[in-house]
Formats: sequence, structure tokens, C-alpha cells
Amino acid sequence: MPVKEGPVPPFPSGADPDEYDRLRRRVLWKMPSGLYVVGSTDRAERRNAMTLSWATQVSFEPKWIGIGVERDAFTHELIAASGAFSLCMIDREDRAIVRKFTKPVDVDLAARTLNGFAYIDGPATGAPVLAQSVAYVECEVRQPVTIGNHTLFLGEVVNAAFLQDEETEVLRMEDTRMSYGG
Ligand SMILES: Cc1cc2nc3c(=O)[nH]c(=O)nc-3n(C[C@H](O)[C@H](O)[C@H](O)COP(=O)(O)O)c2cc1C
Repeated sequence: MPVKEGPVPPFPSGADPDEYDRLRRRVLWKMPSGLYVVGSTDRAERRNAMTLSWATQVSFEPKWIGIGVERDAFTHELIAASGAFSLCMIDREDRAIVRKFTKPVDVDLAARTLNGFAYIDGPATGAPVLAQSVAYVECEVRQPVTIGNHTLFLGEVVNAAFLQDEETEVLRMEDTRMSYGG
């Protein structure tokens, strides 16, 4: 989908669209959020991992979480194909990882690495999970919701595990100078 040029409506009456656009962006960036790596697969040979900040739990009965994924992303293609994804929580000390998964990923199926990072296939869904994750969940997509240039994949947690000490602090958006959305 072509990206629309210029400020996105609606605008409050009387507001200068460009000025308001810049302000709105800064306000939206102010929303605190986590920073994750999402694993996906076609449940055959293909695997991918990408950096994602738009994730949240949306229901506790059932246990559902939602992730917002750009429609042009390879991850989107794989999640749409498999109906599953993993959400990996990363050690705060490993923040360099963020940049490693914002570009197309080199997969080595024999070595079981994504961009050189070891992964395991999630036992419930087959979606890759970074081996160095502090914790992860695997989800089966129950409801994809299309919103503009993103899809909110609403998934049920079908597996959850810690791979490191539970007290390990995990990565969040304020640990990077990069931004997303807004
Ligand atoms: C800090 C940060 C947060 C991001 N958050 C998201 C997100 O929540 N959703 C999304 O679709 N892309 C997000 N991205 C962009 C993807 O990581 C990027 O488009 C990636 O190249 C997509 O990978 P893929 O095409 O291999 O799936 C974020 C990027 C950065 C740097």
C-alpha cells in the first residue's frame, strides 16, 4: 500500500495540519511501551524475526494478546499464512538486538540461527523464539483486525515460558533512541 504523503487527518478545527501533526507525533511517542522480538514461520521452511513495540495483553479470560504488524512486513505474510507468532521479551542489557531485526533476516536452518542469533522452534506453534530471550509467549491468532496499513493480530497464548532468571529486567522502548509510529 503506498504511504500517504503529508499529515494524516483528522485535525482539530483551526489547527495548522503540519504543526499539529508534529505535536501529535510527540504525544503518541510519549506512550510507554515494551520492545520485543516477534518470531514467525510458515510452519514449513521459512522463519523470521522482527523488532516490535506494539504489543499488549487484551483479555485475561481468555488469555489474548494483540500485536500491531505492518502489512508490508514479511512477518505479516508469515503470520497470515500460519496463524501463529511468538513474542520474545529481551534482556535490557541486549538492546543492540533491536537494530538486528529491523531489516530482512538471514536464516540458517541448519545452524538454527536468525541473523546469527540462536533460536528454538516454539514447541506449541513452531514460531521461532530467540534462545537468549528472558521469557516468551506463543500465540495462535484468533482474530486479525485490519486497520489502515497495519493488522492487529489478536492471539491466544498457547505456551509461555521463562528462559532466564525471572528477575531479569526486560527491554522497553525507552532503551532505544529509535522510534516507531506516532
Ligand atoms: C523501535 C522499533 C519499533 C518497531 N515496532 C514495530 C511494530 O510495533 N510493528 C511493526 O509492524 N513494525 C515495527 N517496527 C518496524 C519493523 O521492525 C521493521 O519494519 C522490520 O523491517 C519488519 O521486518 P520484516 O519485514 O522482516 O517482517 C519497529 C521498528 C523499530 C526500530
